[in-house]
Amino acid sequence: MKELIAKLCRNGTLGADELLSLLSDYTTADLEKINDSARQLSLSIFGNKVYTRGLIEVSSYCRNNCYYCGLRAANSEAQRYRLTKEQILSCCRKGYELGFRTFVLQGGEDMVQTDDWFVDVVSSIRSEFEDVAITLSLGERGEEAFQRFYDAGANRYLLRHETFNKSHYGILHPDAMSHETRIDSLVTLKKIGYQVGTGIMVGSPFQTLEHIVEDILFIERFRPQMIGIGPYISQHNTPFAGKPNGTMEMTLMLISIFRIMNPQALIPSTTALSSIHPNGRERGILAGANVVMPNLSPEECRSKYAIYDNKRSMGSEAAEQWKRLDEMMNGIGYTLSKERGDYK
Ligand code: 5AD
Ligand code: SF4
Repeated sequence: MKELIAKLCRNGTLGADELLSLLSDYTTADLEKINDSARQLSLSIFGNKVYTRGLIEVSSYCRNNCYYCGLRAANSEAQRYRLTKEQILSCCRKGYELGFRTFVLQGGEDMVQTDDWFVDVVSSIRSEFEDVAITLSLGERGEEAFQRFYDAGANRYLLRHETFNKSHYGILHPDAMSHETRIDSLVTLKKIGYQVGTGIMVGSPFQTLEHIVEDILFIERFRPQMIGIGPYISQHNTPFAGKPNGTMEMTLMLISIFRIMNPQALIPSTTALSSIHPNGRERGILAGANVVMPNLSPEECRSKYAIYDNKRSMGSEAAEQWKRLDEMMNGIGYTLSKERGDYK
């Protein structure tokens, strides 16, 4: 195993069989070794700075019914809200004061927040904050909408492919959603000029190690600028309620593999990772991640954006979150960066 890790570091890639064997059978010592190598690589490229993205959860309504997600349309227990433009701008103002230079507008596919409405929101953010990056994570809204948002001033788009394996995609999603549309959307976003983020849930129901190898190889080919990965966490009002959560160890292993195979990528240490382990956030950074995304959404909405159970919240107010995260990062020898942190 040591030799495979050394080969991965030397060549920046491995074949499918080698990846499968790495994922199938690694010890704690192997995990530490690969985490260390990935961290050294991150440090050599980004230094000990961790980029910050201010996350604004714009709507908890969604038209889709992904079997794993608490915001699915069929979940009648879900608490729904949608932010107004003024609320979003007010989150941005607070965030900007604190030093955030990227805002991420994330939401379910809520068509009440129309394309026109988003064009207006994005233009307003752009005209008030010239030097920020605007990231959208609004699902599959179609090429025309993607183009209009880009023209209005959005720079980046996050859309996880969830799984590259078609039949696995079909197990995680109802027939109304298609693997092809997901991958086509990613290609379109890239063509338009967005910096694109994709990724997977680690340990999602019925995921095999072979599926993960397909994901790794897809990401290597597609070369997204951002790679979002976190453990799957069960949500009690979904068809997958009670299915086991993904593990921290496998998530850390994958963060390191992604880092080594995609050295320049922006890889967040996700809230999901910090939700399954008290030190998850730090461990993610120490495994090669270089981004954190604190929540700037209004306090009263936080608990309503319940994608999975026991989602961790870093404290109420944006300022407090910045401070606590900065202390957390200082504790492992890093500091929060106030740079925009574009892909180089
Ligand atoms: N556990 C972990 N991550 C989830 N997501 C959705 N549901 C869950 C869950 N139960 C992730 C998906 C999606 C993003 C919005 O959140 O990867 O792309
Ligand atoms: Fe909607 Fe996204 Fe949840 Fe799927 S994962 S139900 S698209 S919010």
